[in-house]
Formats: sequence, C-alpha cells, structure tokens
Amino acid sequence: MTDAINVRNLTKIIGEHCVVDHIDIRVEHGKIYGFLGPNGSGKTTTIRMLCGLLSLDEGEGHCLDFDIRRDYEKIRSHVGYMTQKFSFWEDLTVKENLTFVARMFCMDNVKERVHQSLENAYLLSRADQLAGTLSGGWKQRLALAACMIHEPQLLLLDEPTAGVDPKARQEFWHDIRGFADKGLTVLVSTHYMDEAERCDQIIFISYGEIMAEGTVQEVKKGFASLEDSFVHYINQSTKA
Ligand SMILES: Nc1ncnc2c1ncn2[C@@H]1O[C@H](COP(=O)(O)OP(=O)(O)OP(=O)(O)O)[C@@H](O)[C@H]1O
Ligand SMILES: [Mg+2]
Repeated sequence: MTDAINVRNLTKIIGEHCVVDHIDIRVEHGKIYGFLGPNGSGKTTTIRMLCGLLSLDEGEGHCLDFDIRRDYEKIRSHVGYMTQKFSFWEDLTVKENLTFVARMFCMDNVKERVHQSLENAYLLSRADQLAGTLSGGWKQRLALAACMIHEPQLLLLDEPTAGVDPKARQEFWHDIRGFADKGLTVLVSTHYMDEAERCDQIIFISYGEIMAEGTVQEVKKGFASLEDSFVHYINQSTKA
C-alpha cells in the first residue's frame, strides 16, 4: 500500500521568507504522526499545503494518491482538516453548524449524517446549544465532528487540544487512537510533550526545516527528555 502522504521539496515563500523550506514528508497509513515545532516554524502553513488550501511554491508528491499540485479538490474531499482556531458560526447551534458543513460537502443524507456525527462525538446533549456558548472542550468536540462528517481517510489536526482541560485532552487522544486503530491516518500538531509521546512517529520542524523525525525513542535518543532534544534541534537549525 502506498503512503497516505508522500511529498518532496514542499516549499512556501511568504514575502521574502521561505517559511517552509524544501521539506519531505512521508506519512504511513493508519498511524498517528505528531507534528511539532516552535511558534512560527511552519506547521500550519505545511498542513494547509497538504490539504490543498494553500498553493505550493515548490514541491511535488501525493496526498492519498492524489497529486498535491493538481488534485487539491479531491484531496479536500478526502481529508478532515481541523483548523488551529475555532472557526464556526458562533450564533448557530451545534446542529446547525454541522448541517452547514454537511451541505458544503454536498451530502445527500444530511439529516442522518448530522445525527450520526452528533452521536459519535457525544454531542447530542449539546445539539441545540449555540456554538459560541460552548466551553473549550465541547468546541473541540464540535470541530472534530465537523472535520469527520464526510468520513475522511486522513485527519490533519492543527493544535486540536490547545486551551482544552486535561480530561478532555485524555478523551480526545483516546478517540484519536481509536480512529487510527480502525485505519484512519492522523497528522496532528501540538506543543504538548505528553501528546507527542503518544504518537507513533514524530516530525519536528524548526524555521521551516525538518530537524528530526522518527519514533519518540529515536528522536529523544541521547537526550534526557523529548523536550531537551527539541531545544537542541531548534539551536541546530541553520536559521536560528
Ligand atoms: N499570511 C501570512 N502572512 C505573513 N506571514 C505569514 C503568513 N502565514 C504565515 N506566516 C509566517 O510564516 C511562518 C510560519 O507560520 P505558521 O503559522 O505556519 O507557523 P506555526 O508553526 O503553525 O506556528 P504556531 O505554533 O504559532 O501555530 C511564521 O513566521 C508566520 O509569521
Ligand atoms: Mg500554527
């Protein structure tokens, strides 16, 4: 089976800065990849290029067997992307937001899909609550439900647990592992080391360059902790 993601030389130039600098990313099917790096290192930019929302300045390859430069519409319909910032209509209810998303994907059984996704995400009790009044953990559940409503094969999650309490984070990671066990591929950015430790593989980016990748054990080899290894890699970056 081919990789879920296999891209080479992925590059984004913004203004005069090369914010993603000729990186290669390979993601195997059915695994959880942690995407880590300091603020401004290029994680969100990379994720947006991978799901076809941002054009590439250089690079080539495939995402879910689709050409990353040409087939961005197909990629978008098979990928679930959870944005870094909560991006729902705050004055619509949870159910209305999900209905809107389902319609955007032109689903023909919208009502059933929305109900199913409310149930799967344990959101039924919140269905009629305005999204803007949800607490952080429930907002995260809504965001996850929305990015999975079209049954994607690949999840690209951009700091999904930022600002969420420890219990909600635990539940979230339990769910993510369950999805991966069923064959879904996940690339998730995070600043939390405990979350990084739960990933099958880690990709560490700094100043738009991949500085380390591999299993947790491989990346932190020779260091007291994963955090120590990251500080080392940040200092090693040629642009630091
Ligand atoms: N639209 C834009 N205009 C100008 N600069 C941008 C734009 N988008 C991203 N950048 C710059 O590109 C670099 C990478 O940003 P990006 O948001 O991808 O980083 P990040 O790793 O996701 O950071 P964070 O951890 O803070 O979310 C940063 O220096 C950022 O300021
Ligand atoms: Mg970001």
